[in-house]
Amino acid sequence: YEHRKKLYAINNEAKLFFFHNLLTNPIPKKYIVERGLKKELINKFMIGYATEKSQDLLNYMLKKGFKIEDLLELGLVKQSKRNNSLYDAYRNRLIFPIIDLRKNIIGFGGRTLVDDRAKYINSPESLVYHKSNNVYGVMNLRNVSKENKVILVEGYMDVISLSNYGIDYSVASLGTSLTIEQAKLISRYTKNVYICYDGDEAGINAAERALEIFRSINISPNIVKIPDGLDPDDYLKKYGRDSFNQLLENSLNPILYKYNNLINEYDLNDIDQKVIFLNKLTELLAEIESKLIRDEYINRFSDDLSLDRDNLQYEINKILNTKT
Ligand code: UTP
Ligand code: MN
Ligand code: MN
Ligand code: MN
Ligand code: MN
Repeated sequence: YEHRKKLYAINNEAKLFFFHNLLTNPIPKKYIVERGLKKELINKFMIGYATEKSQDLLNYMLKKGFKIEDLLELGLVKQSKRNNSLYDAYRNRLIFPIIDLRKNIIGFGGRTLVDDRAKYINSPESLVYHKSNNVYGVMNLRNVSKENKVILVEGYMDVISLSNYGIDYSVASLGTSLTIEQAKLISRYTKNVYICYDGDEAGINAAERALEIFRSINISPNIVKIPDGLDPDDYLKKYGRDSFNQLLENSLNPILYKYNNLINEYDLNDIDQKVIFLNKLTELLAEIESKLIRDEYINRFSDDLSLDRDNLQYEINKILNTKT
């Protein structure tokens, strides 16, 4: 317990150090302006800066009396395998502190400002940082409750950019693999979830996995599709807030989302493809637990596709009967 408190204290000191660096350095400020971010966001997200110097944080922390082994444990400092020399893990990077529900600084993400091969560096797993149990943007969770709505995004910059446009109810899963712990954490604040991952292939696949994770805890999220491979930040910058809100309104529930995917995947003029499509459609409908709701979709889809409603129902019943 004492050790844990010390690690939080170190992270907090590092946060202050990076924050001070940013305020006194033109390089990160220029970057922030170039990305179109308002100054207030620096405070809200406690954004910091790691300079190009290789022992900047290290020297500062040693002067403060902290121990090398603790800095290594937190991944703030690394040791060269070649000559055992110590160096700051984050250099030439914008720093995003990761905060937990108790407002402890548990880790950091650092975005390169010099096109380093690693776009982001993140804290390693440690006594205080468990990536899979936390989300980025906990300062937004109060607004999530208030609005009864959450926008789940991939990245640090998406959360910050949304705030820049006055949309203060997003959190990020950090990378593309939402975990069940993260989904449970979010669901304590709202059940009204908008999955808004990047519009590239990785993001689309990740959104489908996130969908299943939410389903496993009985949440039926909306899936937002961002066109042209853009991410929320890119889209906001290109098309603005109203257009982004329109994307949210056009988001699809899981059934309509999957239906839409099937429609786009198969050529319904080709009989072989249509057969596969019809099998998949039947399976999709059979997954709907509520008979009432299932009926709604059966009506809608059979109308939409000019299918015989009773035949569709008959095939669905076959699946349902083998299940029970
Ligand atoms: P993206 O590559 O989509 O980055 O990764 P981004 O958030 O849009 O950042 P910008 O706009 O280019 O600055 C999404 C998220 O995946 C994680 C980060 O959490 C990032 O925000 N990631 C990505 C990493 O951890 N490491 C990486 O090298 C890349
Ligand atoms: Mn762990
Ligand atoms: Mn991406
Ligand atoms: Mn992105
Ligand atoms: Mn981006």
